Amino acid sequence: MSGADRAAFLPYGRQLIDDDDVAAVVAALRGDTLTTGPLVDQFEEALAARVGARFAVSCANGTAALHLAMLALGIGPGDRVVVPALTFLATANAVRFVGAEVVFADVDPDTGLMRAHHLEEALSRAARDPDDGPVRAVLPVHLNGQAVDLDAVGAVAERHGLSVVEDACHAVGTGDPITGRRIGDGARSAMTVFSFHPVKTIAMGEGGAVTTGDPALADRLRRLRNHGMTRDPAEFQNADLAFDAEGWANPWYYEMPEVGFNFRVTDLQCALGLSQLGKLDRFIERRRALVDRYARALTPLAPLVRPVGCGVGVENATVSWHLAVALIDFAAVGVPRGTVMRRLREVGIGTQVHYLPVNLQPYYARRYGVTPLPGADAYYARALSLPLFAGMADTDADRVVAALGAALEIVPRGREA
Ligand SMILES: Cc1ncc(COP(=O)(O)O)c(C=O)c1O
Repeated sequence: MSGADRAAFLPYGRQLIDDDDVAAVVAALRGDTLTTGPLVDQFEEALAARVGARFAVSCANGTAALHLAMLALGIGPGDRVVVPALTFLATANAVRFVGAEVVFADVDPDTGLMRAHHLEEALSRAARDPDDGPVRAVLPVHLNGQAVDLDAVGAVAERHGLSVVEDACHAVGTGDPITGRRIGDGARSAMTVFSFHPVKTIAMGEGGAVTTGDPALADRLRRLRNHGMTRDPAEFQNADLAFDAEGWANPWYYEMPEVGFNFRVTDLQCALGLSQLGKLDRFIERRRALVDRYARALTPLAPLVRPVGCGVGVENATVSWHLAVALIDFAAVGVPRGTVMRRLREVGIGTQVHYLPVNLQPYYARRYGVTPLPGADAYYARALSLPLFAGMADTDADRVVAALGAALEIVPRGREA
């Protein structure tokens, strides 16, 4: 992107595509398979190696990955799943796709992350209505790229017999600040879900994946993403139809032991994903440097403005930042968030709010009523995502902070008249 383009508009997030990414996709276009081919396998191997998992199963997008994870666990009508309220719609919707019900959990007001006591609270709320069905799983969300404390959350989950499925759609490449383990390595959850949407750290256009350490789950995920069908003779149930008189499997034959979806991702997308994965460390480093720069530049606007992830127990060194969120006390500042966003847009700066707590969405409010979740509400009231992408210059971040101060009409500390 040229300097002039960059000055024209800074979105809150965007992909960084180099010539070699373009060349990789063009080469795939000239290959034999446009849909499932060798690049899908190569992408899965590379992703599994990067996050330290035994298996990675790619699919159409992060939403499909969440859906597949729910299906693979056999979650369905009559079951319930705990989801933190501060997340994208898809985390909760995946539970509804399989006919199960959502129990919303609160989050920390300063990080947006669900903690062990939030899970405990959601489970005791759920226990008041035992007829609504067993709580089968929990979906911790590594919001913005920060790591949920999985040891603590996992201990509660284990005590209550819940499966853990991590929503790491924001967090490819994040490590655990305490243990150093990589998110998605399969050690502390049944499955971990990733998204490779263009605003995420690496882009595939649309793309997603589930990683797991469990071979049976990996097999089931592969089958479910492809209509629920199998071509493996060892799995065939209709021996009369499947095998000829000499015991050979019929070459045309496949079976569908359960119903699935077409959630496949293509070789074209995996060509881009592979090429981008090779740059993940560089992208993470660049994003981390920008988040550090924001943190320093925002200091004079404290305490009205505070970056997420500083002084709240998250080790920046291990985070793969998807979003750079400033928590702003709009009430104390006296300028509404919408006004601030419009003012920033007028000077070419895109911002976004991640997220309206999902329990407040009309669909869920109608279905479950609105349980007060003060942590999620407090985070939402103050959150503003500032531009963050690997192609941003340091001066872009400085421009954002200067424009933010002006839009908020705050005189930075130390510069008062
Ligand atoms: C936390 C979270 N979960 C799931 C998803 C769904 O991913 P996708 O857009 O790839 O379907 C997103 C996408 O923004 C997300 O932010």
